[in-house]
Amino acid sequence: MNKEKFGREDYLKYFDPVAFLKMYHSDIKGNQDEGDLMPWKMKNLHDVFAEGKLTGRRLLDIGTGPTIHSVISASNYCDTVYLSDFTPQNRETLRKWLDGSLQHSFKSFFQYVVDKEGKGTSPSCREEELRKKICGILPIDLLLEEPLAPCYFPRFDMVTTSFCLDAVALDHVDYGLAAQKITNMLKIGGHLVVCGLHGSCGFKVGEHVFRSCHVSVEQVKDTWTRCGFDIVDWREQESDKTRRNTVSTFDGVFVMVAKRVR
Ligand SMILES: C[S@@+](CC[C@H](N)C(=O)[O-])C[C@H]1O[C@@H](n2cnc3c(N)ncnc32)[C@H](O)[C@@H]1O
Repeated sequence: MNKEKFGREDYLKYFDPVAFLKMYHSDIKGNQDEGDLMPWKMKNLHDVFAEGKLTGRRLLDIGTGPTIHSVISASNYCDTVYLSDFTPQNRETLRKWLDGSLQHSFKSFFQYVVDKEGKGTSPSCREEELRKKICGILPIDLLLEEPLAPCYFPRFDMVTTSFCLDAVALDHVDYGLAAQKITNMLKIGGHLVVCGLHGSCGFKVGEHVFRSCHVSVEQVKDTWTRCGFDIVDWREQESDKTRRNTVSTFDGVFVMVAKRVR
């Protein structure tokens, strides 16, 4: 099997943004089969940024998908945000969100974040603030030597990525190759925030099952350390094995904050 072709074609042909948003992003509770995965992720993304140590001018989010939930908290700590995704259909969905024509509401996500931030901002104002910071919706392919080609950008001050590496890589060797590409896009001294799954086998979008990379916590930590990062914060939660999950398989979720030191 041609691993690269398998992953790419699968996403191009079968990743349906409308079905994905409906299944996992209808509201802040996420998909009930996944327990409190979504609230846990939003809480921890808020908490790592609220500490105030992660700041920079330009932020790149890698593999944004059709959803902006993972950059809401981060956007308060940078001047400009670049979103990116591999599939044209996801980038089109992000463009629709940006111009206000998307038939999907992220209101409960913004409500959650403004409540946490406690500044009295309304969800709609916070959504506008995020829109104003978006500088680009870029095509990206982490399997290419230059993932953002034909565009070239100076290295970013901060990079975030959520549930993307697990999707791109099919084993821990691929995971390491993709991690190195991400490393090259970040300034030395800059911070990386990775939200990911460990022990993951796959997830459904509609009726289509997408394979994902089965990496352990040790493999994830070892990969980023080898890429030249100091892991400065690590939070994880095990999945609830007593729950019948018909949409995804994973052992746990994590949020990692790491500083590029070389
Ligand atoms: C499970 S979705 C995650 C979306 C979103 N970031 C989230 O947290 O829900 C995986 C994303 O990885 C993207 N992807 C697939 N292959 C890729 C590649 N070769 N390079 C970069 N992104 C890729 C997909 O288009 C998809 O949006």
